[in-house]
Amino acid sequence: MDLQRGSVVGLLHPGEMGAAVGQCLTAAGHTVLWASDGRSAQTAARATAAGLTDAGTPRRMAAAAAVIISVCPPHAALDVAWAVHGFTGLYLDANAISPGTSREVGQLITESGGRYVDGGIIGPPPVIAGTTRLYLSGPDAAPMRGLFAGTPLEPRIVTGTATAASAVKMAYASWTKGTAALMLAARALARADGVEDALLAEWSLSQPRLAGQSERSALSGAAKGWRWVGEMEEIAHSMAAAGLPDGFHQAAAEIFRRCPAPPPAPG
Ligand SMILES: NC(=O)c1ccc[n+]([C@@H]2O[C@H](COP(=O)([O-])OP(=O)(O)OC[C@H]3O[C@@H](n4cnc5c(N)ncnc54)[C@H](OP(=O)(O)O)[C@@H]3O)[C@@H](O)[C@H]2O)c1
Repeated sequence: MDLQRGSVVGLLHPGEMGAAVGQCLTAAGHTVLWASDGRSAQTAARATAAGLTDAGTPRRMAAAAAVIISVCPPHAALDVAWAVHGFTGLYLDANAISPGTSREVGQLITESGGRYVDGGIIGPPPVIAGTTRLYLSGPDAAPMRGLFAGTPLEPRIVTGTATAASAVKMAYASWTKGTAALMLAARALARADGVEDALLAEWSLSQPRLAGQSERSALSGAAKGWRWVGEMEEIAHSMAAAGLPDGFHQAAAEIFRRCPAPPPAPG
C-alpha cells in the first residue's frame, strides 16, 4: 500500500498528542479527518488549529479514510476501535496499551476486513524533528512508516512480534511513570508521618535531584494522572503476561488515581 501525498487519514482523537500527530500529516499534504461527535470544545479547538477536517462521526470518517490512527487515553482504545468496526483500510493503534490489549484491538479490526498496525509514541507532542518517535510493528508497518517519513514524528519499525511496538512503550513507561509514582508515594508517606520536611532536607544532602523531580511528578500527576491510571494498569497486565510481578504498577495506578483531578474544562 502506497500512501501518497494527499491520502485521507482519520484521527481518533485530536487530544494533546493526537492534534500534534494530525498536524504532522496536514503539513505533509494529507487530508486529516476528525470526528466531533461527543468531543469537547477543547478537542474542537485543537482540531481547528491543526488544520483537521470534521467528518462528524467515526462512521463517516471510516467511510472516507484510507487510514485511521487511534491516539486516545489507553482505557478508551477498544471503544474507539469499536466505533469504526467494519473499517476496511489500515488502522494504527498508537496508544499506551499492553501487547494483549493491542492484540484485541487488532482482532477487532482484522475480523471485519481491515489491516492492523501496532504502535507506541515516545516523547512529547511532535512539533520539531528529533523529539518524538512512533514505534511501529506488524506486517503492515512499512506503509505507516512511509506516511510519517520526513515529518517531525520519527517512525521506527520494531522487529519481532506483531505487538512489539506496544511492548517497547510498556517497558519504557514502566520506568518513567513508575518512578514518578514511587516518588509521589515516598513524599506522601513522609507527609502522613509528619516528616516531609526532614525527608526533603535529607534528599537535598544525599539525593539532590529528587525534590525537584518529585515536584514535577506531582504537577504531571495532577494534570494527567487520570489518564496514567489506565496506562499503569496496561503495564501491570504486560508484566503479568511476561510472568513478572504486576504489583509495582497496580500500586502506581492507585497512586495516580489519588492525584487531585484537574478542574472540569469550561464549555
Ligand atoms: N501527551 C503526551 O505527551 C503523550 C506522550 C506519549 C504518548 N501519548 C499517548 O497519546 C495518547 C493520547 O494522549 P493525549 O495526551 O493526546 O491525551 P489527551 O490530551 O487527554 O486527549 C485525549 C483525546 O481523546 C479523547 N477522549 C477522552 N476520553 C475518551 C473516551 N473515553 N473515548 C474516546 N475519546 C476520548 C479526548 O476528547 P474529549 O476530551 O474532547 O472528550 C481527547 O481528544 C495516549 O495513549 C498516550 O499514552 C501522549
